[in-house]
Amino acid sequence: MAAGGVTQAEKDGAEKYSRAVLAAYDTFVLKWSNTYAWRCPRERLLTHYNTHLRARHLDIGPGTGWYLHQAKYPSAAPEITLMDLNANTMAMTNRRLADRNITPAVHTGSVLAPIDPSVGVFDSVAANFVFHCVPGTWAEKGQAFGHIAQVVADDGVFFGSTILGTGVDHNLVGNALYNGPIKAFDNTTDDPGGRQTALSAAFESVDITVVGTVAIFAAHRPRRTPAP
Ligand SMILES: C[S@@+](CC[C@H](N)C(=O)[O-])C[C@H]1O[C@@H](n2cnc3c(N)ncnc32)[C@H](O)[C@@H]1O
Repeated sequence: MAAGGVTQAEKDGAEKYSRAVLAAYDTFVLKWSNTYAWRCPRERLLTHYNTHLRARHLDIGPGTGWYLHQAKYPSAAPEITLMDLNANTMAMTNRRLADRNITPAVHTGSVLAPIDPSVGVFDSVAANFVFHCVPGTWAEKGQAFGHIAQVVADDGVFFGSTILGTGVDHNLVGNALYNGPIKAFDNTTDDPGGRQTALSAAFESVDITVVGTVAIFAAHRPRRTPAP
């Protein structure tokens, strides 16, 4: 366990996103890998953002902020909060959103920990391409869904996507690049059914669509107490 209750494995998952990695991320990950490795183009995920983004939005693990920068917002002055363990990603997203006249609030924390209520309550919360970076089984990662549910408004939505490790057909590019020697992910046991079960424990309504090797999800009606 590292300082502040965050495990070394959690820190490792976030610290990969150095400034050098972020500089290459939009081209190497979002443009090429989304299309050729995981067969879920970034445009499909941008549509998911545009469908679910609301005016008071929390983005967990924003990376380079590409989706938030490209997105269509439902209001002229959206209130955006960023949450990450890695300050590089929040700084880059902040800089990028300046030309949309958006100044996000930032909160440093791990998605696996309870979220401080002072962070706020949100109409939409996104965690896009975050859970395949986070250590643990769905039962362990699923604890995060319970924490997130507590900061989603009663009529709000939790949405995003994650690359599955099993139960989908990974091609050679995906396996060789990301699940091979560089061990970029922590998703070997992540399957679509486990994700559905874990999300359903925290939200009454869960919709998951698998595109390529990516589970795209939207969850509504946050449970205030765990499912029976
Ligand atoms: C693969 S990037 C995804 C970036 C962006 N959301 C996208 O879809 O392009 C993973 C993001 O999750 C963050 N992250 C990884 N582990 C985390 C954790 N335990 N808690 C919070 N953020 C985490 C990383 O720092 C990074 O911003």
